[in-house]
Amino acid sequence: MRITATSAVRTRPADPIRISGVGRTFTTDGVALPVLREVHLDIAAGEIVALIGASGSGKSTLLRQVCGLDTPDTGSIVIDDRPVAGVDPRCAVAFQEPRLLPWRTLAANVALGLPRGTGREAGAARVDALLRLVGLAGFRSHRPRHVSGGMAQRAALARALARSPGVLLLDEPFGALDALTRLQMQDLLLDIHRAEPTTVILVTHDVDEALYLADRVVLLGSDDTGAGSTVVRVIDVPGDRPRDRGSHDLAALRAGLLEGLGVATHQHAGDGNVPPDDLPPDDLPPDDLLPDHVPDRRGADSRVAHDRSPHVHAAATPAAGDADTPRTHA
Ligand SMILES: Nc1ncnc2c1ncn2[C@@H]1O[C@H](COP(=O)(O)OP(=O)(O)OP(=O)(O)O)[C@@H](O)[C@H]1O
Ligand SMILES: [Mg+2]
Repeated sequence: MRITATSAVRTRPADPIRISGVGRTFTTDGVALPVLREVHLDIAAGEIVALIGASGSGKSTLLRQVCGLDTPDTGSIVIDDRPVAGVDPRCAVAFQEPRLLPWRTLAANVALGLPRGTGREAGAARVDALLRLVGLAGFRSHRPRHVSGGMAQRAALARALARSPGVLLLDEPFGALDALTRLQMQDLLLDIHRAEPTTVILVTHDVDEALYLADRVVLLGSDDTGAGSTVVRVIDVPGDRPRDRGSHDLAALRAGLLEGLGVATHQHAGDGNVPPDDLPPDDLPPDDLLPDHVPDRRGADSRVAHDRSPHVHAAATPAAGDADTPRTHA
C-alpha cells in the first residue's frame, strides 16, 4: 500500500537555520560530560538534513537545542534571522513514539498542534486537510488505541504540521515501526515535504533512510579525547527524490557512512578482499557452527547476502528529559 499525501493549505514559509559553534556539557552529580563541541551547520530553507551518529553522540541534544528545549553553553542557533531563545514556536517536533493523548480522537490530537488563536472553522479545515495529507481522513474519530502504530505516527506528524512550522524536527520518527511501514512512511514524508515544504532535521540510525530522504547527511562523531561530538562528515546526496533505493551511488555513500559510524560493511566485489566464494572450504566454519542469522556463505546467494549492507539500528535510548519536557507544538 502506498500512503499518498494530498495538498493542504500551508500558511508559513520554511525557515533557514544557522548553528554556529554550539557546545554543550552536562554535569551530573558533579561529573562533567562534554556532549557537543564546536558544532557548525547551515541549513537552507526547505532543506532536509539527516543527522546520524552513534548512540549518545548528542543528536537529540542538538535537535532539542534547535527548538529551544535545551540551551547550548556556547555558540548560537539562529532560525531565519532570529536567535532561538526558549521554546520556539517556529519549530515542531515529532518523536519515535507518537505521544498522542489516548482519550482524544485523532482529529482532536491533530488540533492540539494548531497555533493559539486559530478560529474554529479555520482550525477544523486545517485538521481535515492534514488528516487527508497523511491518509487518515477516514479515521478522524478513532482513538489512538484503535489504530496501528504507523497510523498513530501519521497522526503525530499531522499534529506537528498543524502550526505550519518553519522547521520540522524529527527524532527517529519511524524507529519503532516495522520495516514495511517504515518504507511507506519515508515516502509519505517526501509527499508531505512536497505539499508542505518546511525545513526538516531528521535524526535517524538508519543510514539507508538518511540517504533516501535527505539533501545532506551530517555525521556527528567524536575523537578519543572525550571532548564531545562535532560534525565529522557532511555528505551531499545526489539525485532527485524519490531516489532509487538500490542505486550504486547510494550504496557507495552508505559504505562510507557506515565506516564513519564504525560499522564493518563486508564489501567484497572489487574491494581487494577475497570473495567468500573463492575461499577454500577449510577457511569457513562448518555450517552447524554458524549462528542462524548468518547467511549460508557457501551458497549461490552468498554474494547477495553479503552485499546487503546492514542498517545501523543501534539501541535507541530516548533523550534524557524528553518524556517530561513540553512539546513545542502541544
Ligand atoms: N538533560 C541531560 N542531563 C544530563 N545528561 C544528558 C541530558 N541530556 C542528554 N544527556 C547526555 O548527553 C549524551 C547525549 O545524549 P543524546 O540523547 O543527545 O544522544 P543521542 O545521540 O540522541 O543518542 P541516541 O542515538 O541513543 O538517541 C548522553 O550521554 C546523555 O546521557
Ligand atoms: Mg537520541
